[in-house]
Amino acid sequence: LYASVTVPQNALLLSYSTGGYGPLKRAIREFLARWRNIHCDTEQIIITDGTHNGIELCAVALADVGDTVAMESPCYWGARNVFTAAGLNIDMLPWQPDTGHTLPTASGPVTLAYLTGSHHYPLSVPTRAAHKQRLCEALAPRYVVEDDYEFNRDDHANLLFDTTSERHLLVGSFSKMMFPGLRLGYLVVPRHLAGPMNRLRSELFREGRMLDQAVLAQFIFDGDLDAWCRRIQRDYLGRQQVLHDQLCSLPQVRSVSPPSSAISLCVEFAPGVNDVAIAQALLKEHLIVRPLSPVCAASDPRVGLVMGVGMLSGETLAREAQRLRRRLEPLLRQGH
Ligand SMILES: Cc1ncc(COP(=O)(O)O)c(C=O)c1O
Repeated sequence: LYASVTVPQNALLLSYSTGGYGPLKRAIREFLARWRNIHCDTEQIIITDGTHNGIELCAVALADVGDTVAMESPCYWGARNVFTAAGLNIDMLPWQPDTGHTLPTASGPVTLAYLTGSHHYPLSVPTRAAHKQRLCEALAPRYVVEDDYEFNRDDHANLLFDTTSERHLLVGSFSKMMFPGLRLGYLVVPRHLAGPMNRLRSELFREGRMLDQAVLAQFIFDGDLDAWCRRIQRDYLGRQQVLHDQLCSLPQVRSVSPPSSAISLCVEFAPGVNDVAIAQALLKEHLIVRPLSPVCAASDPRVGLVMGVGMLSGETLAREAQRLRRRLEPLLRQGH
């Protein structure tokens, strides 16, 4: 693919291109229509170097240092890092899948609300548009950024995102869909921000690696991304089932996220379990998990572990899931 899209036959790579490689924007626009029921103009799409870069662009373009960004608790740690580095004040609001967000009794002006898209990370359950709507009515943020990292073909109704609104932005990434080393993603922005934010992307970061963007565009136009997404979503569902079965009957386990085609799974423990110590003990056994409590607000007592199914499959996954269970069981019995 690289040989077929590079110079000299591809003159588009010989100059700059505002906000990213044009054909990739078109390919993403069509992909979003097919997979997310999102219908936008090509100009509303900005190519990014992945989610973090997209969130950074939102922070720089839409907020000033000291402004407030509202996030859910538990949150995606990476977004919190980017907002912290951008000098924003972070307000974390606990979210429960059945009852929604704990709304503040009083709050100052909120510039950005950053919410996970259709599928919550790190809880790994579907989100609810009604909860997000209630949150946005209470906080009246100037802009709402949804991180559409995980999705199924039929869960777009969980998004608040609306291509005709003046305040909704969508952040997307190929890190989960394909692999993190690709470092490619996209933003979909309101029409009135399309020109300025495309220009800002190019002024600050140029347009990224356009050769990689050209390859990805061709991969999508050839139908290979659709085929890959169908296959990997089925695969992840099977892998999640394997881990789920090992985890759900362990002592102190309150809940395990239902198997889904997401890349990560979350197990919640009874209050008081030291999830940080457990994660450290597992790391010594080369079992890499992320504790839940450090990504929760101070007022949110949830504890648990977040783990991914992206790296293991087949017999290796079955073996490692059993090993995880055997190591976790004594740690949980000791109430670590
Ligand atoms: C919610 C969420 N967004 C985005 C990402 C990935 O970000 P990037 O596209 O920068 O690799 C992750 C990775 O774990 C994630 O969990």
